[in-house]
This record gives sequence, C-alpha cells and structure tokens, in this order.
Amino acid sequence: MISPEIQCREATRTVAPETVTVALPDRSYPIVIGDNLLDSLGQRLASMQLDARAAVVTNPIVRQLYGSLVVESLARADFQPVVIEIPAGEEHKNFAWLTFLYDRLLEARLERNSAVIALGGGVIGDLAGFAAATFLRGVPFVQIPTTLLAQVDSSVGGKTGVNHPQGKNLIGAFYQPRLVLADVGTLRSLPRREFVAGLAEVIKYGVILSPDLFDLLETELSRVLALDPAPLTEVIRICCSLKAMVVEDDERETGWRSILNFGHTMGHAVESLTEYKQFLHGEAVAIGMAFAARLSSARGHCSEETVMRIMRLLKQAGLPVEIPPGLTAKQLALAIEADKKVSGGKIKFVCISEIGRTVFDRLAASEIAQMTTR
Ligand SMILES: NC(=O)c1ccc[n+]([C@@H]2O[C@H](COP(=O)([O-])OP(=O)(O)OC[C@H]3O[C@@H](n4cnc5c(N)ncnc54)[C@H](O)[C@@H]3O)[C@@H](O)[C@H]2O)c1
Ligand SMILES: [Zn+2]
Repeated sequence: MISPEIQCREATRTVAPETVTVALPDRSYPIVIGDNLLDSLGQRLASMQLDARAAVVTNPIVRQLYGSLVVESLARADFQPVVIEIPAGEEHKNFAWLTFLYDRLLEARLERNSAVIALGGGVIGDLAGFAAATFLRGVPFVQIPTTLLAQVDSSVGGKTGVNHPQGKNLIGAFYQPRLVLADVGTLRSLPRREFVAGLAEVIKYGVILSPDLFDLLETELSRVLALDPAPLTEVIRICCSLKAMVVEDDERETGWRSILNFGHTMGHAVESLTEYKQFLHGEAVAIGMAFAARLSSARGHCSEETVMRIMRLLKQAGLPVEIPPGLTAKQLALAIEADKKVSGGKIKFVCISEIGRTVFDRLAASEIAQMTTR
C-alpha cells in the first residue's frame, strides 16, 4: 500500500507548464506545454476578446477521449462550443471534408471573432487550420495537438492545408494560431507506434540544431519513452523553441527553414514507394535521417562516429533505419525527382557536419539514390 505521505508527494509532483513564444512581426503567440492543461483552455481564451460561439474540430477517437474536458472547460468560461467531427485518417484531409467543415461552421453561425479549435493530431490541425484561415477570410485559430508529431512539428510554424488528388499538402495557407496548448498527458492514450514515430521528428531537431537536445535524448530516452511528464515537457519545449526560432527567421520557407526537411527527401521517397501503407511518416523520416547521415559521411561532411550516434539513438527509440531491400536505386531516384519536382537538376540535400550543424549539398536525384547501393 502506498503511504499517504508518498501519495501526497506524487500528487504534488505536477510539472509546471512551460511557455514558448513564437515571435512574428505582426502576430506573436504562445505555445503552452505541460500536463493536465485541457482544463484551463476556457480560462486561457477568456481574455482574447472572442465571440462566445466557438467550434471544436476533432475526430471520433480524440473526441471520445478529450472532447468533454475541452467542451466543459469552454462552457465554464461562458463559451458556447459546437463540436464538429471529421473521421480519423489522412484520407479525410481533403476538399470534401473541408467543404463539410465550412458547412458546419456556417450552420453554427460562427462569426469573424469566433474561434476554430483543432483538437487532435496533424490531420485535424492542418484541415481545421486551413478552414480557419479561409472561413470569413480568417477567424481566430487555436491548436490543441494530441500527438507527439503535432506537438513538436505540425502545430508550430503556421502551415495549414489539405491534400489534392495530385499530391499531399498541395493546397494550403500560412496561418498562425492565437494559442497552442500542448498537453503531454494526452500522449498517454496515443498508440505506442504513433508516439515513437513522433520521436523521429524530435531526434531530427537534435541532429540538425541542438547538440544539447541530442545529449538530453541520449541520457533521458527511457524516461521519455515511459511518458514521464517532466522530461517529456522539457523535450517538447526545446523542440518547439527550435522550430519557432527557425520559423521566426524564415516564416515562408524561402531559405533556411528547409533544414527542417532533413531526412525527408529519402523519407518521402520511401513513403510514396510503399504507398503510405508500410511506414508512418516518422518511421520513414527515421529511415531518411539514417540515410542522410550515411550520405553526409560518404560525402566527407561528417565523421563516422556522428553517424553511429544518430543510428544508435534512432534504434534505441525503436525506429527503423534501413531502406526496404525491395526498393531499387532507380525507383528511389524517380520518387525523389517527383517529390522535389526537379528533373535532371540538382537538389539542395540537407546534410550534417556534426550533431547540431547542417550543410547543404547539391546532388542530382540519381546521385542521391546511388548512395543506397554503397
Ligand atoms: N502543418 C505542418 O507543418 C505539418 C508538419 C508535419 C506534418 N503535418 C501533417 O500532419 C499529419 C500527420 O499528423 P499525425 O501524425 O498527428 O497523425 P494523425 O492526425 O492522423 O493522428 C494519428 C492517429 O492518432 C490518433 N490520435 C490523435 N491523438 C490521439 C491521442 N491523444 N490518443 C489516442 N489517439 C490519438 C488519431 O485519431 C489518428 O488516428 C499529416 O497530414 C501531415 O501532412 C503537418
Ligand atoms: Zn516530417
């Protein structure tokens, strides 16, 4: 039996929320990260001069888990929320469901100052964000990311959008939210595989931008994998600050922001050649990062030891690191060209020179793919 004293200590061991401010010239906003935050949503929105009506956009899985907490918190702060459900899955991030969403927003009589609140992973965030960017020429947008990928990546940076039959994320807008509320407690219900896939993007930030984050992951990985709120909050805070720093510098991805594509050139090729069925995005990115690290070493940019550290951390996290043997260099080259929309020309491939430092290398898709045969 746990003694009352220990119980009490456990109960007070709550982690204080951390705030990262994304400072953009005309609109800065906070990302609040911590445990048990959903309860505070209404109170946090109360000071933002919003209309009482608000829409919570979610999917049936997330609604079942967190819908009532969010709705009750809003109601306590005198909001009148409607909940709009989009079925779960990437295949619903499209025009048909965007139109469905506009119809529901009109039906609920949302006004220029009514908030659209995305409660879910990146799919919900991207779709609801694009709806918020375009409905009545833009209404206040709030993100409550509930996957690790959404907490460290898709909810930071203001990219919103939907897929087109000809490709992913082809239609979209840059639209910054008013508030991001990342509750690490929501990750406890996330399927393990989704959580681990999200860790690939976390590791990416360490590799490209921060030796300190990489070291922290090496020492604290088991606590992060055990979903201990303290290291998890810290790691997510660091990732959000790193992405915020890049976005503040290059909001519209005209240059530097493309370092965030580290591991994604090969990752996207692997995802598309396996028809988005074999790997989650983060898993494909892990394969792509392992490849990019090896390519960096083969091209003389980084040491073999750096490659080993990256491989070790990816494997310890439970991520795949090998390109599926069935994929040929020719197939990979074609997929890379299709993704980057280049033909014959050179690609700005993100390499690393050491942990935390990137260097661009200009390579043709065929040269990149040839490296897989070495
Ligand atoms: N906007 C950007 O900058 C950006 C960046 C990266 C990725 N993305 C987009 O993000 C999307 C992928 O996001 P994702 O990985 O979060 O996938 P997702 O939104 O599909 O969520 C994954 C699964 O987890 C479930 N889920 C979500 N939260 C849960 C929770 N707390 N407990 C239990 N189940 C939960 C969802 O219902 C879903 O089935 C893609 O569409 C991608 O294009 C956007
Ligand atoms: Zn990614």
